[in-house]
Amino acid sequence: MDAIQAPIVAVIGDLIRRSPGTISLGQGVVHYGPPPAAIQAAGSAVGRDSSHGYQDASGQPELVRAIETKLRRDNGIDVSRGSRVMVTAGGNMAFVHALLAITEPGDEVVLPVPFYFNHEMAIQMAGCRPVLVNTDARYQLDVDAIRAAITSRTRAVVTVSPNNPTGVVFPERALLELNTLCRDRGLYHVSDEAYEYFTYGGVGHVSPGSFADAAAHTISLYSLSKTYGMAGWRIGYMAYPEPLAGAMAKVQDTILICPPVISQVVAAAAMEGGPEYCRRFVAALADIRQVVMAELGALEPLCSVPQADGAFYCCLRVNTAADPMRVAERLIREHRVAVIPGTAFGLTHGCYFRVAYGALEQATVAEGIGRLVSGLRRILGGS
Ligand SMILES: Cc1ncc(COP(=O)(O)O)c(C=O)c1O
Repeated sequence: MDAIQAPIVAVIGDLIRRSPGTISLGQGVVHYGPPPAAIQAAGSAVGRDSSHGYQDASGQPELVRAIETKLRRDNGIDVSRGSRVMVTAGGNMAFVHALLAITEPGDEVVLPVPFYFNHEMAIQMAGCRPVLVNTDARYQLDVDAIRAAITSRTRAVVTVSPNNPTGVVFPERALLELNTLCRDRGLYHVSDEAYEYFTYGGVGHVSPGSFADAAAHTISLYSLSKTYGMAGWRIGYMAYPEPLAGAMAKVQDTILICPPVISQVVAAAAMEGGPEYCRRFVAALADIRQVVMAELGALEPLCSVPQADGAFYCCLRVNTAADPMRVAERLIREHRVAVIPGTAFGLTHGCYFRVAYGALEQATVAEGIGRLVSGLRRILGGS
């Protein structure tokens, strides 16, 4: 555990608490809650006897059915072609389950950099080795570099699209090339799609699990935390290859036994309304994103921000030799704005920051970005 990084959001949260009035562009959360129908469903579930006992390990049948329908409709994944669904307490847990099901200690898992920090942490906790492979200058996948990193110990390649921390959306061509590579080399492709509905400017989301022949080696991870604003209810799920059912059952039984029952009722009610619920929030985020990109774009050449068409992040590359954690601390202490240093995402060479804009109203984000821009100029000695 000593070798594993501390949860960065908590570290930054601590600093924020010590500097009241700080605007947080740190944590990756949305500013809205679940649909009213879901909250109502929670109310009635509390009093039902069936809410208080263990339920089906893979998830309540109504929720699993709703998920299967959604996978077919929105992701092009037909589970009758060799996949199974498992509901978990959030997408992070689905990732851990998948790792435990497919690896043994000493195995390697390829992570494109920047990575989602909990993926690296989970791989290390499972006794495996994260093999870090750089993305290109636009944070896009470098499939040739991934191919070159594969060894006899490699078990899986992980992708996150839309991406945390960069906001980049990987195009179908790259995902297909990588998914095919995984198939040909006997590897799993673990595809984290927590931000599947968060894309902008006509850019579409592609699920690798929808590719022909993908079912046998693709594990697709999803979360209700962002889409339905229900991070605290802890519901995620995955579609995974049928032959892993025995292994997944062992992991689920040991770690969760069954997903929280009332949360599943809330999830099923939320999913009944479908992703239309989040579309208006995504439309508002699209406007906020324009403001963020324009303001940060004005920092050139001090900083650059590659195109970010998804999630609610962008990843700022700063031309300085300064230590990003020190800069982040000063931004909070002296300029009352918080961002996450890129080191948490494996960007250890250079100075990078993840900017998250999902948690705040437009005016607050604009104020926060203003503070970030002037703060970086002051700290780094720009104009
Ligand atoms: C890429 C990615 N996967 C998974 C998660 C966690 O989702 P959940 O709340 O469902 O565990 C997050 C949360 O920020 C994320 O960014």
